[in-house]
Amino acid sequence: MGVEICVEGLTKSFGHQVIWQDVSLTLPAGEVSVMLGPSGTGKSVFLKTLVGLLKPERGSITIQGRDITKLREHDLYEVRKLFGVLFQDGALFGSMNLYDNIAFPLREHTRKSESEIRRIVLEKMDMVGLIGAEEKLPGEISGGMRKRAGLARALVLDPEIILFDEPDSGLDPVRVAYLNQLIVDLNAQIDATFLIVTHDIASARQVPDNIGLLFRRELVMFGPREELLTSDEPVVRQFLNGRMQGPIGMAEEKDAAQVEQELAALGDGGKDTQSPGSQAMTPRLLPGPGIPRPPRWEAIARREAALHQKAVAGA
Ligand SMILES: Nc1ncnc2c1ncn2[C@@H]1O[C@H](COP(=O)(O)OP(=O)(O)OP(=O)(O)O)[C@@H](O)[C@H]1O
Ligand SMILES: [Mg+2]
Repeated sequence: MGVEICVEGLTKSFGHQVIWQDVSLTLPAGEVSVMLGPSGTGKSVFLKTLVGLLKPERGSITIQGRDITKLREHDLYEVRKLFGVLFQDGALFGSMNLYDNIAFPLREHTRKSESEIRRIVLEKMDMVGLIGAEEKLPGEISGGMRKRAGLARALVLDPEIILFDEPDSGLDPVRVAYLNQLIVDLNAQIDATFLIVTHDIASARQVPDNIGLLFRRELVMFGPREELLTSDEPVVRQFLNGRMQGPIGMAEEKDAAQVEQELAALGDGGKDTQSPGSQAMTPRLLPGPGIPRPPRWEAIARREAALHQKAVAGA
């Protein structure tokens, strides 16, 4: 039924470089959350810290009542079985074919027979459209195929917590649409807790329950999708609209006067053109035919409808 992850006051540095500080958020059990942020703000570092590959200087990460930042390697190994992780670079073993890469976690962490492993591996390869490529080495296939092999590998252990670092980068738009549907369907079926790092704003708008934004070494916001989509926070608006005007610059920092000037020049004060006040909020992506919607969806739909009513009335 998915597992909650509670992060409190987390700070991570490399030497003198603080990556982010005092990050607190809860990834609710069984929900899908997306983490956004400009390149280099530490999204990948955040995922690696959640699985215990990097040690934070301060703060805690509580999973099933245990602070994993304090665990010894042996206990951490156990906790890691809860996770399915797709790293940004795919992290496939270059000398193993795709079949063996995807079978690896099953051989490493379970006592399943080779015939059972075969059934699971082929099922996951089918799910991501890789049937027929079992014998290929990672170096012989396209970047998008490597990404999909990484996805299949992240799913073989039926994880309770799924972390995807830019699962959609390097995929064509049609495959991104399939991937988003796969995430929503998977979540409805297996109820795992998802955290997805993406730069794809269209996906971020329609897939998750919650959205977070990292910027300037801080978690600027983390909360329900509809809150972020209707937020007045300039950084959030700029990011969700993918535009140049706003606090985020090419080299990160802009001074306040410049930001004000830019937002004024937009005429609408930088209003989110897709917020409920101006048009209907981006609809949520629904599970495919025959897949029941998770129970929490009714409450979320009511919340979103109320917010929409309020915004339309106030517009
Ligand atoms: N092992 C490491 N040692 C030292 N510095 C690191 C290490 N890993 C990451 N960094 C630094 O941490 C910062 C954040 O990197 P990270 O890869 O998390 O960014 P990101 O938000 O994922 O960016 P992108 O969107 O481009 O993937 C960068 O400045 C990077 O150089
Ligand atoms: Mg990254």
